[in-house]
Amino acid sequence: MSGFAARVIGIIVLEMPVALVSGGNRGIGLEVCRQLGRLGYTVLLGARDPDKGEEAAGALRGKGLDVTALRLDITSEGDIARLGELARVDTLVNNAAIAPDRAHPDTSALHVPTELVRLGFEVNTLGPYRICQQIVPIMQRQGYGRIVNVSTGMAQLAEMNGHSPGYRLSKTALNALTRILADELRGTNILANSVDPGWVKTDMGGPSAPLSTEEGAETIVWLATLPDGGPTGGFFKKKKQISW
Ligand SMILES: NC(=O)c1ccc[n+]([C@@H]2O[C@H](COP(=O)([O-])OP(=O)(O)OC[C@H]3O[C@@H](n4cnc5c(N)ncnc54)[C@H](OP(=O)(O)O)[C@@H]3O)[C@@H](O)[C@H]2O)c1
Repeated sequence: MSGFAARVIGIIVLEMPVALVSGGNRGIGLEVCRQLGRLGYTVLLGARDPDKGEEAAGALRGKGLDVTALRLDITSEGDIARLGELARVDTLVNNAAIAPDRAHPDTSALHVPTELVRLGFEVNTLGPYRICQQIVPIMQRQGYGRIVNVSTGMAQLAEMNGHSPGYRLSKTALNALTRILADELRGTNILANSVDPGWVKTDMGGPSAPLSTEEGAETIVWLATLPDGGPTGGFFKKKKQISW
């Protein structure tokens, strides 16, 4: 799999940077794909449903962006294993997630069944964890990488409230993964950060959310394109560091 575009100008070959975005077919992920595409990235738009992925990627290609759909169910061992074959990945946005507690009528921690909490960990924590195990070695070979774990204010221990334990616990663990990776990768020019996009109008955020997907994607794209020497191991909202 080539995984990157090469633009030939005379005898100079400029390789475009490659970004992989999970859950890129709708919501914040789709907007991240659009914004990275506009910045000149070759975007691999991950989607668990290949038809939805192709539809979203085709629409962005129609706007002149270099976007390719990639079948990626972040709970699928086969889909994850294939990521290791990618030739190049400069930026990884772990965006795909679920709100598992919503499958239960009572979102109190006293009542949400542990099966739903386990499902939250499977998708929201172990999905990104497995993807990183495939993609970080590629970044290490390149000597460059930017990893953005899309988290939530609901995972902030400093502000932790009740309800939605499956979502909160899985995203707090995702934040811990950010810290672990940032520490292990220090000095390698691979930067790993978490982000709270804010409350965004999507299927997950609902129609009452105050932020557009454009606004929600802004800090994610900023972290995805940090310059060398930029921050690592942090949690950001509106391009400012926030407490864990
Ligand atoms: N919206 C908010 O207010 C808000 C606030 C804080 C944090 N966030 C975070 O922002 C990120 C994006 O949220 P969103 O609002 O855009 O959510 P969304 O509209 O519900 O979209 C979720 C995306 O994740 C994908 N997905 C779910 N399970 C998957 C799996 N097993 N494998 C691959 N893809 C999977 C979905 O694919 P399908 O289309 O196939 O279902 C969809 O593309 C999430 O990490 C969320 O936790 C959102």
